[in-house]
Amino acid sequence: MNTIQWTVDKNELKSSSYPHIQQAASLLQQDEVVAFPTETVYGLGANAYSDKAVTKIFQAKGRPSDNPLIVHISNKKQLTELVDNIPAHAEKLMDKCWPGPLTIIFSKKNNVSQYVTAGLDTIAIRMPDHPVALALIEESGLPLAAPSANLSGKPSPTTAKHVVDDLDGKIAGIVDGGQTGVGLESTVVDCTTEIPIILRPGGITKEQLEQVVGEVAVDPALASENIELKPKSPGMKYTHYAPIAPLYMVEGDVDYLQHLVDKSRSEGKIVGVLSTEEHIARLSADVVLSVGTRTDLATVAVNLYEKLRQFNETNVDIIYSESFPAVGVGAAIMNRLNKAAGYKVLKSE
Ligand code: TXA
Ligand code: MG
Repeated sequence: MNTIQWTVDKNELKSSSYPHIQQAASLLQQDEVVAFPTETVYGLGANAYSDKAVTKIFQAKGRPSDNPLIVHISNKKQLTELVDNIPAHAEKLMDKCWPGPLTIIFSKKNNVSQYVTAGLDTIAIRMPDHPVALALIEESGLPLAAPSANLSGKPSPTTAKHVVDDLDGKIAGIVDGGQTGVGLESTVVDCTTEIPIILRPGGITKEQLEQVVGEVAVDPALASENIELKPKSPGMKYTHYAPIAPLYMVEGDVDYLQHLVDKSRSEGKIVGVLSTEEHIARLSADVVLSVGTRTDLATVAVNLYEKLRQFNETNVDIIYSESFPAVGVGAAIMNRLNKAAGYKVLKSE
């Protein structure tokens, strides 16, 4: 299949780039799949009402069929077509956080393709905060089921190039709207319970949610000491985001990290380090990449998947990564890194 690519300047949607949106929307109406930018990561969109279209998402990504998809909408009217009931805390969260990196789980009406919800009686919905995504949904007139536009198991794409690397020839089109903003996926919060429960940490922090609705719980299966518990969000059970070389999370100071590097190199290994602006100059290994600055973890979120993908273009045998405090956006960063590392952690004595 020939994958069409369009470049759309997100600040100039009304003028020259708009025909691209119309072409992409027309393919979606014909049950084709099209990748598009959101403020978190690139999504791979399809008509949420169509079995034929949604099946193509699972085929292109190699995604397990028991992992449900998020439905993307551009206005609140679409929501009432999809959900059974809008609880008061969900209403408050939507008012404050939509459009934005928050996915809400509702109890569903039975009208989207069965493949979107993978046999669950709930549905995940979000309104992305990206002019290209919103224009595409509006123009197609469809709610779009869209997972991240990567091959299953790989880091989510934060540029159109990442999508091309993974899916060129397998999908009908890619709308290139430049690099995404947040860099990590949306926060998934279950609002079918009395107290909302975070099922996946992401772009909106627990602290931000609590400011809107008071108490917010976290699915206990997300804590690294509970890896045997079954997460409520099916996608969280899969190994994800992983670079090809084994990744180890390091808890300790720079000297301890360097000691681990030296030990591996003395065993003949080619060693990579995922470091930060603060520490990069003090570390010596075969490949040392800085993911951002420790004083602003949002920079780490933005660059994380790009850096994990960059290691795949090197010949490292092993990667050591600095750890981050799991508060604010750090919770989502550590969730993704721990999963990418398969929960392998090395701690200094
Ligand atoms: O930022 C994002 O959320 C991106 C962009 C493209 O919007 N999308 C994304 O989709 O990350 P995906 O498919 O990679 O992750 C969706 C997550 C999975 O963990 C899935 O199991 C969960 O949402 N999910 C979907 N429907 C659910 C439901 N009804 N109940 C619980 N979890 C659900
Ligand atoms: Mg994904």
